[in-house]
Amino acid sequence: DDTKLGVKGLVDGGIQTVPKIFIRPPEELPQELNSTRHHSSDFQIPVIDLTSGRREEIVNQILYASSEWGFFQLVNHGIPAELLDGMMEGSRLFHEGDGETKKELYSRDRRKQVKFRSNYDLYKSRAADWRDSLAIDTLFDGHLDPNDLPLICRDVVLEYTRHMIKLGDTLLELLSQALGLDPGHLRLTTECTRGWSLVCNYYPACPEPELTLGASNHSDPSFFTVVLQDHTGGLQVLHQNQWVNVQPIPGALVINIGDIIQMISNDRFRSAVHRVLTNHLGPRISIAFFFIGLISSPKLYGPIKELISEENPPSCQEFTINEFINSFYSRPLNEPSFKYFKL
Ligand code: SIN
Ligand code: FE2
Repeated sequence: DDTKLGVKGLVDGGIQTVPKIFIRPPEELPQELNSTRHHSSDFQIPVIDLTSGRREEIVNQILYASSEWGFFQLVNHGIPAELLDGMMEGSRLFHEGDGETKKELYSRDRRKQVKFRSNYDLYKSRAADWRDSLAIDTLFDGHLDPNDLPLICRDVVLEYTRHMIKLGDTLLELLSQALGLDPGHLRLTTECTRGWSLVCNYYPACPEPELTLGASNHSDPSFFTVVLQDHTGGLQVLHQNQWVNVQPIPGALVINIGDIIQMISNDRFRSAVHRVLTNHLGPRISIAFFFIGLISSPKLYGPIKELISEENPPSCQEFTINEFINSFYSRPLNEPSFKYFKL
C-alpha cells in the first residue's frame, strides 16, 4: 500500500519492533545506560504568567528563564483555548487523514512551502526520528498562498498563524527589555515574524520506546520557537547536564530561545539542547512555530552593538538568514548551528 507513508505508515502496517534505522546509539538512548546524566524531578522549567504582576517583574522572569534555561512555559498568553484545541485537532486530522493528501505533499525539497515529511535529515543523522511532520513556511519571501494549505486544516492554520505572529511581537518586546534594550529593538531590527515555519509533529505510538527517540538532541535553528504540546509529555531540556521534563500544562505554550537569539544576544540568552522521547501509548502531537526570518533578505545579523563591550567581545561573526539556514543543513550531525559562526 503506497499511501502508508512515514512512521505512522509503519505503525499502521503493524510492525511490532523498531526497524534498525530508528535505533539510536547507546549514548543517545532515553535510558542512557552507563551515563553520568540523571533524570531529575527536582527541576521544573520556569512558568511565566503574562497577566501577573508588573511589567518589570515579567521582564525579570523572561531574563532569568532565557539566560539560565533557554526555555519557559507561558500561561495567560491571550490565545483562546478553543484555537489551541482547534490547531491540535486540525493537525491530527491531517496526520490521521487519507494517505493521498500526504502523498501529494510528500517532499524533501527545502524550497517547497507546504510539505509532508518524515526525517528531513535521514541521510546524515545517526538514526531516524520516530515522527512525521507537516511543515508550512514563508521563509523565502514572507508569502504563502493559502490555497497551498491542506483543506482539512487550512482555516485553523491561518488563524493560528495570525495569533502566533502577534505573540511573536509581544515576545520580541519582552526579550528586548530583558536584554536592557528599547522595547521595540528586536521587533524593528529583525524580520523574524515575516519568515516563519509552522511544523505539525506527529509521534506515533512506539513498540519499543527505549530504543529510539521522537526527536534527537538538538537546538533550534530560529530566533525563538513557540511549541504547543498535548498532554502526553516526552519533551525534555538539557539543563545543568540533566534531562528535565517539560511538563504538559493545559493551555500553556512552551517558548524556547533558538540559535539566532543566542548569537545576536552575544551569548546572554541560551539556545538549549532538547529532545523528544517516544512512548507506548501515543500518538503525541505538537505544533512548533519557528520565528526565523527571510532567506531572500540581504540583512546582516550579528551581536547587538549595545551588548558588546571590552568584557563582552563579539561572540560570533555576522551572517544572513540564508547563510544561517545553509549552515543548519550542512552542519555535522546535530551540532548547534551557532558553532559555525563562532569567533
Ligand atoms: C522539537 O523540538 O523538535 C519538537 C518539540 C516537541 O515536539 O515538543
Ligand atoms: Fe526543537
